[in-house]
Amino acid sequence: MSSFKLEKVLISDACDPSVVDILKSRDIRCDIKTGLPKEQLIDTIKDYDALIVRSNTQVTADVIAAGKKLKVIGRAGVGVDNIDVQAAKQLGVSVINAPGGNSISAAELTCTMLLSVSRHLAQACASLKNGVWDRKSFSGNEVYGKTLAIIGLGRIGREVAARMQAFGMKTIGFDPLVSAETSQTFGVETVALDKLWPLADYITVHTPLIPQTKNLLNDTTIAQCKKGVRIVNVARGGIVDEEALLRGLQSGQVGGAGLDVYEEEPPSRSQLIGHPKVICTPHLGASTKEAQINVAKEIAYQFIDMIDGKPVAGKVC
Ligand code: NAD
Ligand code: MLT
Repeated sequence: MSSFKLEKVLISDACDPSVVDILKSRDIRCDIKTGLPKEQLIDTIKDYDALIVRSNTQVTADVIAAGKKLKVIGRAGVGVDNIDVQAAKQLGVSVINAPGGNSISAAELTCTMLLSVSRHLAQACASLKNGVWDRKSFSGNEVYGKTLAIIGLGRIGREVAARMQAFGMKTIGFDPLVSAETSQTFGVETVALDKLWPLADYITVHTPLIPQTKNLLNDTTIAQCKKGVRIVNVARGGIVDEEALLRGLQSGQVGGAGLDVYEEEPPSRSQLIGHPKVICTPHLGASTKEAQINVAKEIAYQFIDMIDGKPVAGKVC
């Protein structure tokens, strides 16, 4: 039997109710208090031994330090960029995430973006809704036979590959942790990054935002791409340099972009968002009923595994 106990959990972002049902079944009290200003969060956290967040709550070092009873922070999603993991580690607070629950949803949005960018779906829809019957401006491209470069061949990158292969795309990719033999098993030919840029008709990124991936797509790498390359980012803002992307779109070097995530959220670069060749969504990759149920359950069951002394799949620290 483990000595790890949880009594009171604070849920500070909107999560699927299944998280509460599962924790309550083990007599754990859950309080939902969303949208707390930082000072209030700091004042509130002191009474709780666990915190569950999505991406809205900024779990900074001072918030963690104020949680005198805090034992674990659960992130109902993948990215832990809103949690100061280093501070949590130093203060002996575990951080766990829900790594697989929203992969399919994020992959499906990526494929939707790739197809919509190819067929100007959002622009044509907006035009017709404005009363314009314009069949000339929105002629697009087939994705069939085109090359899709996938940077980051983890959970989501692989799901995107499988789906776009069904559309007849050739899939190439790069991931420093995935060997050529492994990537062959899911139909992706690995290519060194410097060789990848000129081969791609479409590029999609599926890496975390870390120093090695910050501004991975920039003026220099975009210039090495085919003219008219389409770029999709459903991973993290900052992997694609937004100013370089805008310059690429303005010069025609980039033929279109699909963006779900931004360097700043909500995004401040209205010229990029407003560019006619950009389709954009407000960080909706995981915003499906299925993904939200999955990540809520994944976090709740991991809390219970901790209590039961079992290994925890999503342990970040
Ligand atoms: P994952 O950990 O399964 O895969 C990430 C892959 O990136 C790993 O295989 C890793 O080796 C690779 N990688 C790391 N550094 C790299 C580099 N320098 N170059 C190329 N590859 C590199 O993660 P995942 O679940 O596939 O998630 C991918 C991204 O999508 C994350 O940033 C995550 O936060 C984001 N995400 C966004 C949404 C959304 O709502 N838009 C939803 C889910 C996930
Ligand atoms: C994630 O990292 O899981 C996504 O960005 C989705 C979310 O914000 O929950």
